[in-house]
Amino acid sequence: MENRGSFNTKIGAVLAIIGSAVGLGNLWRFPYVVGQNGGAAFILIYFIFVIGLCVPLMVAELLIGRRGGSHNAGCFKAIKEDSKFYLFGYVGILSAFVILSFYSVVGGWVLNYLGQSIISFNNPQVNELSNIFNNFVINPVRPLVLHLVFIVLTALIVIAGVEKGIEKISKFFMPILFILIIVLAIRSVTLDGAVQGLNFLFKADFSKVTNETIFEALGQAFFSLSLGMGCVMTYGSYMSKNSNIIKSSIIVSISDTLFALIAGIAIIPAVFSFNLQPTAGPGLVFIVLPEIFAKLNGGSFFQIIFFFVVFIAAISSSISLLEVVVSYVVEEFKITRKKATIITTIIIAIIGCFCSLSEGVLSDFKIAGMTLFSLFDYVSSNILLPFGSIGIAIFVGWRMKKKDVFEELSNNGQIKIMCKSYFILVIKYIAPIAISLILLKSLFW
Ligand code: TRP
Repeated sequence: MENRGSFNTKIGAVLAIIGSAVGLGNLWRFPYVVGQNGGAAFILIYFIFVIGLCVPLMVAELLIGRRGGSHNAGCFKAIKEDSKFYLFGYVGILSAFVILSFYSVVGGWVLNYLGQSIISFNNPQVNELSNIFNNFVINPVRPLVLHLVFIVLTALIVIAGVEKGIEKISKFFMPILFILIIVLAIRSVTLDGAVQGLNFLFKADFSKVTNETIFEALGQAFFSLSLGMGCVMTYGSYMSKNSNIIKSSIIVSISDTLFALIAGIAIIPAVFSFNLQPTAGPGLVFIVLPEIFAKLNGGSFFQIIFFFVVFIAAISSSISLLEVVVSYVVEEFKITRKKATIITTIIIAIIGCFCSLSEGVLSDFKIAGMTLFSLFDYVSSNILLPFGSIGIAIFVGWRMKKKDVFEELSNNGQIKIMCKSYFILVIKYIAPIAISLILLKSLFW
């Protein structure tokens, strides 16, 4: 069998996990979910979930991954052979398929807008941008082709391997992404009328908080941090034995949250400054932003930077989703990485085509009132990821031996375990109970 591969450096591992976390979740989903859920109060609840639940859950995933040293179902088996928790690994693989198929459709949209902004550099479209977006999305050919391009690019990086593909790309691009998004944020806050947007982002109005807000904030936090399906776990299995798991989790969570916030600052104030609404939904970055760029001095230039950032962020996340399935197929069916990637990519590409068409010719086909695209988006963030996280928390909190957990977190006693009792409290009690309550309350009450 092929060598499993591993990250070459500690910083490379952290940047790869940041690469997985920072993606469409931050740049496409966060701004519109914030817009639809009333702004600042949502962001505050989101922060509470990140600090209170997600950091410990990321620690838990990394720890299962590095200890298990296998794909996401294999890790559970390697740690505790007689337990049925490996079934959560399969839920994770299912989630990877579900997420990747709509993720690569949005990836295709991003490619389209990146291409368009380069082609029409000198005379950007000014009018009817929402029609342009809607007509593009319902077109049965173009988004489909671009979705395929996106997923094939993802596959090429995954075929190149953990160190030569994933780690290299992340090391090179993550620092660039942070610099570029800061440039965009500065441009946005220096527009006239940006203050209104900043108020929307930072002045909390709790009267708008409902059950739905809490549910959405939880799903968004899991989605943005790549938690709940064994993605971080798989990357953890490539981590060196002397990486500091807790420190890495804190760095990744802070970076991802900062990135989402800066993305919000780059987008929302500009929206207000041009008298547009932040509630546009999934079309926000594709309709409202091009309109802003079209009216802005030097807008074409900023538009290219923006969609370039979104594209790189998206692809460094989609490789992590694909890697979950590929590592499973390679190790379980003992075939080469290349073969495993090709087979998996074909399946995802086909499901993705249906997702893409569900926004156009198949839009009448609805399940629970949603198109396939919105159903996949909803089910993955709001159901599969929270459910997977409950499993991961219970496994670490109640099934693993304490000694093993502490050995892994302290690198065999070499480093001190930061915030040990807090970690145990959250993983054993708070995470399983709080996530179950939020899930049950939102789904059944
Ligand atoms: N976190 C990524 C984003 O914000 C998407 C992603 C990558 C993801 N891997 C994941 C989401 C695993 C959930 C689970 O765009």
